[in-house]
Amino acid sequence: MKTGDPCVLVILGASGDLTHRKLIPAMYEMHRAGMLDKATCILGMSRTKKSDAQWREDLTPWVSKSVKDFDAESWKTFSQRIYYEAGDAATAEPYARITARIESLNECHGCKGNVLFFMSVAPELYEPIVEQIGAAGLVTEGRRWCSLNQNARSWQRIIVEKPFGNDDSSAASLNRALGRVFEEEAIYRIDHYLGKEVVQSLLAFRFANAIFEPVWNHRYIDHVQITAAETVGVGQRIAFYDGTGAIRDMIQSHLMQVLAFVAMEPPSDFSADHIRAEKIKVIDALQLPDMKRLQDFGAVGQYGASADEKAYHELTGVKDGTTTETFAALRMEFENWRWAKVPFYLRTGKRMARKCTQIVVQFKPPAANLFRKTMSDPLSGNRMVIEIAPNEQFSLRFGAKKPGAMQIRDVEMMMDYAKAFKVEPVEAYGPLMIDAMRGDQSLFKHRLEVESAWHAIMPFLDERSAAIRSGIHANYAAGSWGPKSADDLLARDGRAWFNPSA
Ligand code: BG6
Repeated sequence: MKTGDPCVLVILGASGDLTHRKLIPAMYEMHRAGMLDKATCILGMSRTKKSDAQWREDLTPWVSKSVKDFDAESWKTFSQRIYYEAGDAATAEPYARITARIESLNECHGCKGNVLFFMSVAPELYEPIVEQIGAAGLVTEGRRWCSLNQNARSWQRIIVEKPFGNDDSSAASLNRALGRVFEEEAIYRIDHYLGKEVVQSLLAFRFANAIFEPVWNHRYIDHVQITAAETVGVGQRIAFYDGTGAIRDMIQSHLMQVLAFVAMEPPSDFSADHIRAEKIKVIDALQLPDMKRLQDFGAVGQYGASADEKAYHELTGVKDGTTTETFAALRMEFENWRWAKVPFYLRTGKRMARKCTQIVVQFKPPAANLFRKTMSDPLSGNRMVIEIAPNEQFSLRFGAKKPGAMQIRDVEMMMDYAKAFKVEPVEAYGPLMIDAMRGDQSLFKHRLEVESAWHAIMPFLDERSAAIRSGIHANYAAGSWGPKSADDLLARDGRAWFNPSA
């Protein structure tokens, strides 16, 4: 079992939603799974004043709600390793206290001088906080940290949450700011989709089986659809969301990563450098859309009102006349030999008909289809559906002869993770944070990947996208599969979305 090195995990943004809902529950799960080193402890930091005991108490209901089979006794033991320090991390003021606290935790728990920072704060605070961490001398990579560990080489690393920048130039500036304090090898740009079992399995599926890879290219694949649909609305995150939108929130990060795993070339081995080099290469090969026909490459939408929630543009806190999208569908193509002329359709939205994250790989019809007269849709069957959530499944649909007639009907062959491996999915953040504690960057994004991904989607975000944003208000009904413009996007190519059935 992979276990992280001992360290002090410093969570900047301790009172935030992410820390309560995901990070602490994930660390508790990792502790129970025996993957967190026994010396590792957690120091939370945010502006509100509270004691260690108060923070542990605040966290308890969140952890008990989020973790299956929560056990009060083991939580109590684990929570004794959780500490709190108040202060504004974007200013110099608290750093003398923080440094002293990290040193004393290091000594008393035996963390060998290792420190893992986790940026779980509002994105505009990333740069000022990194500067303060640097100015306080908290990063001493390769040097000895504390007197108790004279012989050990310590490490200091940082995990940076998305959104990584707000556009291509702010992402580049954040990369430069991080680079002034941390080496690239110490920067972990996290994307929780890479912690999902099925996303990682794409590599095994493609590169451990000789039967799929030979057909994984433009000669056999008609197109690919990647969907991340949610039934929830924007909820309490309006201030963040209205300046962000679906393309920045979901496509620039999560769906681009899924796209890269589907489309990349085989790495020469599974080391972080080689996996990331292939992802950089494939994202870099994305073509920019033809700006004169942007509606052929992108559709955006905002959900309308429903019985329990106002329309997005009517929500309190949303800017008047906002054109921020709660839905987006993009058509992307790679300019490379494997994928020439194969469209990849990426789609995501809030308040949609079903919660479902899936990849659909549609194969081309047979070159000479003897059964075409008996088929209503020539593309029917010949389809791989990879469901990432809520189920974890790979299924292959193909045409089979109906008994008693020379006619074709779609049938399905399925591999279900829960049934095949009898394991419950864990919170995706846990294994990723353990990887950061082990120094394994394979499932984290490289600086160049992030910058290329921004480059590919900027035309859908900046002033050039005004044309596809007109008439956006309530242009799709809550509980539907998105606006008509998204259906038209595929219809123009003679295709349609594969919507999962209820
Ligand atoms: C987050 C987005 O990164 O991912 C949220 O900020 C979104 O808006 C969430 O709801 C979706 O994650 P998952 O794992 O539920 O698909």
